[in-house]
Amino acid sequence: MEVLGIDIGGSGIKGALINVITGEMTTERHRIPTPDKSTPENVATVVAELARHFEWNGPIGCTFPAVVRHGIVYTAANVDKSWIGTDAVTLFEKSTGCPVRVLNDADAAGLAEMIVGAGKDRQGVVIMLTFGTGIGTAIFVDGHLLPNTEFGHLPIRGKDAEHRASAKIRDDENLSWSQWAERVNEYLGLMEFFFSPDLFIIGGGVSKKHHKFLHLLKTQAEIIPAQLRNEAGIIGAALAARDLAQLPPLVTATEEVLPLES
Ligand code: BGC
Repeated sequence: MEVLGIDIGGSGIKGALINVITGEMTTERHRIPTPDKSTPENVATVVAELARHFEWNGPIGCTFPAVVRHGIVYTAANVDKSWIGTDAVTLFEKSTGCPVRVLNDADAAGLAEMIVGAGKDRQGVVIMLTFGTGIGTAIFVDGHLLPNTEFGHLPIRGKDAEHRASAKIRDDENLSWSQWAERVNEYLGLMEFFFSPDLFIIGGGVSKKHHKFLHLLKTQAEIIPAQLRNEAGIIGAALAARDLAQLPPLVTATEEVLPLES
């Protein structure tokens, strides 16, 4: 049983078919650069192009890097401002002709990590952080997601945290790993002060280089790299759309359990 997972990011829009029984990718990932002008129309065209690439006409789960409630986009920190108020579900359903579910990108990545990745079977307060163009956050309590937390915008020294400590800022400002880690530590310290988590999972594109910086991060909570790396968004989006494939929603291991079959 497959769902097309699509991850819309600041620099690329990626898709793959996902087996939503096992959470595994069943095709190669296909990536198309995010259009320079990331308007709803331009992004919808790329989403349709991905569906065509996979010759897909089944359910689609799609991430979006903003607050998304019931399919409507409410913010636009790193995408064209004309997204605010857009009904992303209707837009993508029109452009692809497929049933679509849309959710926040960090929430999707967090769900994937909690169901089939680094957070599997983890209880308590787990915070997934994605470091990319921005900083995405997903907070789980005993496996239950609190959707649309936007703690990448927590103010630090008068700036949004993501404008000091995202992976993009590390590139833009040519920061060394230890300079960047110092900024991330300040951010993690605040997150610990507010949430006293048991576990941080560090995801986003930068997580594949975790050996360069993870040892520099100092937290009271356990801190581990994401397992699904860049694929977490695609997998989480597909898993979140399981019900569109007439399958019951998949939940994290600590909720009422629907075990993954192999
Ligand atoms: C957005 C979040 C998103 C994060 C990561 C932030 O700028 O406000 O919604 O999850 O970037 O893409």
